[in-house]
Amino acid sequence: MSWKNKRILVTGGLGFIGSNLVEKLVGLGAKVTVIDDCRTGNKFNIEGVKSRVVLIEKDFADPALLKEAVGASNFVFHLAAETDHVKWRENPLPYVENNVKGMLLLLEAWRKSSNKPKIINAGTRGEYGPQKKLPVREDAPTNPLGLYELNKLQAAELLELYSRSFGLDYCHARITNVYGPRARMDTTGSGVVNWFVRRAMDDDDLPLFGGGRVKRDFIYVDDCVDALLALAESNATGVFNVGNPEPVTLKEAAEKIILAAGKGRITFAEYTPERKAQEPGDFYPSIDKIRDAVGWTPKITLELGLKQMVAYYAKNRENYW
Ligand SMILES: NC(=O)c1ccc[n+]([C@@H]2O[C@H](COP(=O)([O-])OP(=O)(O)OC[C@H]3O[C@@H](n4cnc5c(N)ncnc54)[C@H](O)[C@@H]3O)[C@@H](O)[C@H]2O)c1
Repeated sequence: MSWKNKRILVTGGLGFIGSNLVEKLVGLGAKVTVIDDCRTGNKFNIEGVKSRVVLIEKDFADPALLKEAVGASNFVFHLAAETDHVKWRENPLPYVENNVKGMLLLLEAWRKSSNKPKIINAGTRGEYGPQKKLPVREDAPTNPLGLYELNKLQAAELLELYSRSFGLDYCHARITNVYGPRARMDTTGSGVVNWFVRRAMDDDDLPLFGGGRVKRDFIYVDDCVDALLALAESNATGVFNVGNPEPVTLKEAAEKIILAAGKGRITFAEYTPERKAQEPGDFYPSIDKIRDAVGWTPKITLELGLKQMVAYYAKNRENYW
């Protein structure tokens, strides 16, 4: 399939994954509309392609806006969400508003549209929660530990309900830990690798909880974008893991980050109570399903990805720190 002149709606297109997706789609000749109210997004993320993107700076969760935008699209990539993993403990309602009600409003706009675009939704590995059997397959039990993760599971179930009831064509990508250019660097909430890259570039401590022995998998953002595009282009439908079946310990990841940045140092710390409560232990996914369905596997090694990431932030630091 060619993306040339395809009309694409990206919600959350000023964010980390969304903006990398937008840049790729524009390069492929697609006509991209972004809805992003910039609550955590960064306009600099689409600086290079802004003249070729229609940016609607509004909350996507608006029936009239969605009616028009969904009705004009061939594909919808839904990335906008309340993404902080721990802030729900103080203020849960905006999560449900954005991640569940927003999903339902998008689905209703789809149901009422005549064009019926395929929807690619960003889910999370957190939907699985702690797992004894690794690697984790899509049919594993789901036991999310936080509201963000629960909301993503609820979104997956809404997508499946609309598929069964109204014939929705969708893919729900259970994405693991993404790192790379255009991630927020002003918060611990955008993932441990992104945060540690900032700490290392600042020649600061990289505090590891629990001795850094927990195993995690990481994917470079370009690999994640390629997976979302491959799911959209194919006949694939349903839930797919998007991650790296080859995990590293957090200590190994920290060592590679220090090597890439040429600075920083490992320290050891106690889990904060909130982190401990939401720590699922070792996790890495099986990607057999997406590989068999669309031929996708991650290509970029952690070493190469970190090198590219450090180079990006060294050049564009003032837009992220
Ligand atoms: N980054 C990861 O490692 C990761 C892992 C698993 C899943 N995901 C999912 O992928 C998606 C993108 O993640 P990201 O890391 O790029 O996050 P991000 O916070 O960088 O981007 C989210 C974007 O959505 C926008 N947004 C949020 N709510 C909105 C609303 N109601 N209306 C309009 N815009 C809104 C924000 O301004 C931001 O630009 C999210 O749904 C996230 O849950 C990310």
